[in-house]
Amino acid sequence: MSETEVVGDKQTITCLGEQFRVYIDRDRIQERVTELGRQISEDYAGKKPVLIGVLNGAFMFLADLMRSISIDCEVDFIKLSSYGAQKITSGVVHELKKIDAEITGRHVIVVEDIVDTGLSMSYLMEKMSSHRPASVTAATLLHKHEATKVDINLKYVGFKIKNLFVIGYGLDYGQLARNYPDIYILDEEVDA
Ligand code: IMP
Repeated sequence: MSETEVVGDKQTITCLGEQFRVYIDRDRIQERVTELGRQISEDYAGKKPVLIGVLNGAFMFLADLMRSISIDCEVDFIKLSSYGAQKITSGVVHELKKIDAEITGRHVIVVEDIVDTGLSMSYLMEKMSSHRPASVTAATLLHKHEATKVDINLKYVGFKIKNLFVIGYGLDYGQLARNYPDIYILDEEVDA
């Protein structure tokens, strides 16, 4: 049996032996991502922004977000160290893949799947600023605002969520569950 199993109507999945339940469904995600894309298209009209996706988690959000952007834009990727198979952050950020794009003088949007403690996003904003871009803003699909320890300005936020562990739509648990189009939380946390 695979380590990730869809049960019944996909309202529930089992990942690495733990049960998760749908928290934000695919329609709601797509609706919100489309709104964000529209907003970015308005805000950056004539500016040809460079979207920097944070691997691995942001790949799905970034792909859908870009499809909703109707102005010229470019894309590149950066990769930071991940949680491994843990559900809590180590608090230490390492860069595993650097950006290739020349961003000096460009309008940069850093695209994350989720901001938790905020350490990764804060690191990224500083890192991007060191290249002297014309501007840098942050977009994240999810924001665990109660868990965020640092002061960061998140211009585009899909959903503010409670401090819960979530998977699906790019987000993983032990590298699994990224492929699901919905976002799930641990079953016992559904009513939290
Ligand atoms: P931060 O540096 O604590 O804000 O963590 C950001 C990164 O941690 C995200 O890009 C995710 O890769 C990972 N992360 C944080 N919360 C979750 C979660 O609930 N599920 C899966 N990954 C998470």
